Amino acid sequence: MQIDVFTLFPDWFGWFEGQRHVANARAAGHELRYASYRDHSELSGRQVDDTPFGGGAGMVLRVDVVDAAIQGFYGRDSLDVRRERRVVALTASGRVLDDALVDELAREPALTLLSGRYEGFDERVVENLATDAVSIGRYVLSGGELAAMVLVDAVLRKLPGSLGHEESAVEESFSAALEGAPEYPHYTRPAEYRGWKVPDVLLTGHHERIREWRLEQSRRRDKA
Ligand code: ADE
Repeated sequence: MQIDVFTLFPDWFGWFEGQRHVANARAAGHELRYASYRDHSELSGRQVDDTPFGGGAGMVLRVDVVDAAIQGFYGRDSLDVRRERRVVALTASGRVLDDALVDELAREPALTLLSGRYEGFDERVVENLATDAVSIGRYVLSGGELAAMVLVDAVLRKLPGSLGHEESAVEESFSAALEGAPEYPHYTRPAEYRGWKVPDVLLTGHHERIREWRLEQSRRRDKA
């Protein structure tokens, strides 16, 4: 899979790149690239944002700047890029990211993520340059960078090769294997700590009973 992230702050992703599963994903042949809006801005002082028409607080990322960045990075018209791959604008008001959407995005061969900044994008970015608007929750971040990292993190975990051998994204919270419910609780050694005991069934080695207990716990959490 190829994921391209457009951002005002490519440096922020240095930390993200150092994470094990991101490195694993790269080693497995997946590609992550970054594009700076500012590098592609032809406005004076490499301006990228502007005050909102109609007044109001904050700054808005300009549509011409985002358009130029996409064209500059891909070397073709952004409307063609939008036809070829999912272009996701990260914005607080978008479709809320959940496991089903992560699965859907993880099946794409290529993704482009547009991080917004300040008050967000000029709406024409969302309407004309993006195929999707995605939110990581109903709260406002100071920009889309953290949201992009959340999305990439969740998508990469779904790709073969990102998790270690012993780990699996098949049976985890909200997966089909758990009927879309949250995951069951996990415990590890010590079996008892300060009087807090691990449920007996997990210590029995009885795989079928453990499986049933976990499914039951997962369903119970779903109702909570
Ligand atoms: N940009 C600002 N807030 C955001 C959010 N909650 N999700 C995605 N992008 C955002």
